[in-house]
Amino acid sequence: MASLIPVGVAGLGRYVPEQRLTNRDLEQIVDTSDEWIVQRTGIRERRIVAKDEVTSSLALRAARQALEDAKLAPEDLDLVICATVTGDQPFPATACRVGFDLGAKRAGGFDVAAACSGFVFASQIAAGFVQSGQYRHVLVVGAETLSRILDYEDRNTCVLFGDGAGAALFTPLERAGRGEFLGGSISMEGGAEAVLAQPGGGSRHPSTHATVDQRLHYMKMGGTKVFRFAVRVFAELVQKVVDRHGRDAIGLIVPHQVNQRIIEAAMEQVGLPMDLVFTNIDRYGNTSAASVPIALREAYDAGRLTKGKLVVMPAFGAGMAWGHLLLRW
Ligand code: UT7
Repeated sequence: MASLIPVGVAGLGRYVPEQRLTNRDLEQIVDTSDEWIVQRTGIRERRIVAKDEVTSSLALRAARQALEDAKLAPEDLDLVICATVTGDQPFPATACRVGFDLGAKRAGGFDVAAACSGFVFASQIAAGFVQSGQYRHVLVVGAETLSRILDYEDRNTCVLFGDGAGAALFTPLERAGRGEFLGGSISMEGGAEAVLAQPGGGSRHPSTHATVDQRLHYMKMGGTKVFRFAVRVFAELVQKVVDRHGRDAIGLIVPHQVNQRIIEAAMEQVGLPMDLVFTNIDRYGNTSAASVPIALREAYDAGRLTKGKLVVMPAFGAGMAWGHLLLRW
């Protein structure tokens, strides 16, 4: 077997919509309070798409920034992978629209549906294509418009999520010069549809007037179960990296931005300080597949990615599905 080509991250991008939805705004919509939301989640506001925006239009903005960062043109792209559970429509893949709008004339594309773990899983697929030599320039975009599947009569879910997109461009390491791909993990535990899902609109509950009347087209969640699961797998994923590479090797943990309390509880469990974690949940809430790449680009802009140090990205969500992405910056 031919030896694997070392892979790196040549570019990063992010985009969030202009419109802010604050906790005070939500107080006018459901029976909640700014105090409850901040204490239980750390979220102060989230971004919401305008009427004419869709998932692919957010993805496009993030993708363009990643290309610019990498100093590559759309025509250079071999593959576009879009991680999303709120695509423009059930099919065709949102990646096809993103590739078309970008002008990625040579590229193929497909979507990855793994909810909050989508970007982390899609990045491992992208890195594999580059490692094997099949493709040189693979763009991964995590993009979501969760506001379009939230029930703004359900305070258990509508306060938690927001819209946005983030992107990473994987190329051979010699081209990227940074962000060496060191691997990751992909895990699942099926049968958890009742815990976190959008029940309607698929083959189990095809859309009918009845499914709409039952509000099955909206996200449903058992938050406390997700909370316990997230703390456990987040701590396990980070512990594995500590065991393998040592605590001092870690430069920054950029986790799925799920809930400030979940992040703090997991960090306490592995005995690591919070200053090793990047969070922006106060400003965007949980943006599912977009959360890790938005945070990664912001960590990069803030100078928090240290040359030679590890960047650990644990993610977890509906499925249940979880895993991590590991880079050496
Ligand atoms: O990416 C994975 C996606 N999943 C998530 O991000 C969710 C993970 N889970 C969580 O973040 C937390 O479980 C929540 C923030 C959803 C809830 O926090 P909690 O500490 O687990 O609270 P709880 O479920 O025990 O709810 C406590 C109370 C309940 O009232 P009762 O039944 O005790 O009277 C809820 O009805 O808080 C109530 N509640 C609210 N109150 C005000 C739930 N949502 C709200 C709200 N405002 N928005």
